[in-house]
Amino acid sequence: MTRPVPGLTPRHSRLAATQLARLALTSMLTSSPAVQEAVLETEVDNEGAMSLYRKLGFVKEKRLHRFYLNAKDAYRLKLPLPTLHSLGLTKVAAQAEVEAVLAATH
Ligand SMILES: CC(C)(COP(=O)(O)OP(=O)(O)OC[C@H]1O[C@@H](n2cnc3c(N)ncnc32)[C@H](O)[C@@H]1OP(=O)(O)O)[C@@H](O)C(=O)NCCC(=O)NCCS
Repeated sequence: MTRPVPGLTPRHSRLAATQLARLALTSMLTSSPAVQEAVLETEVDNEGAMSLYRKLGFVKEKRLHRFYLNAKDAYRLKLPLPTLHSLGLTKVAAQAEVEAVLAATH
């Protein structure tokens, strides 16, 4: 469910979170090629975030009891290195993608 993003056209809002997450992952891969995995947490009932991360290839590693200040549980999600590479990004391609996005924002 893509929502409008201030400053972006509806076409560019489509999958904005996916694109931002891919940019973060490609930046990480470019700056640290030896990276083994990406790890993050999200509230267990955050359906949008869970959908986003599942589609990027993240898998549940563990449920964290009362992880947040609001006492909600979290899932720790992990994206293993083979999956990171399966995003289709060689180091050169990742570098090119990062540079293209940075060039477009300056
Ligand atoms: C979670 C969030 C970042 C998703 O942003 P988004 O721009 O809607 O995500 P995208 O457009 O890239 O969608 C990614 C996929 O998740 C799906 N999705 C997004 N929100 C969804 C929801 N509420 N329920 C089910 N699926 C959802 C999209 O349909 C899309 O799948 P598709 O390719 O099959 O269409 C956004 O809802 C948000 O900003 N939430 C508040 C902050 C937050 O929760 N951040 C995460 C903290 S861990």
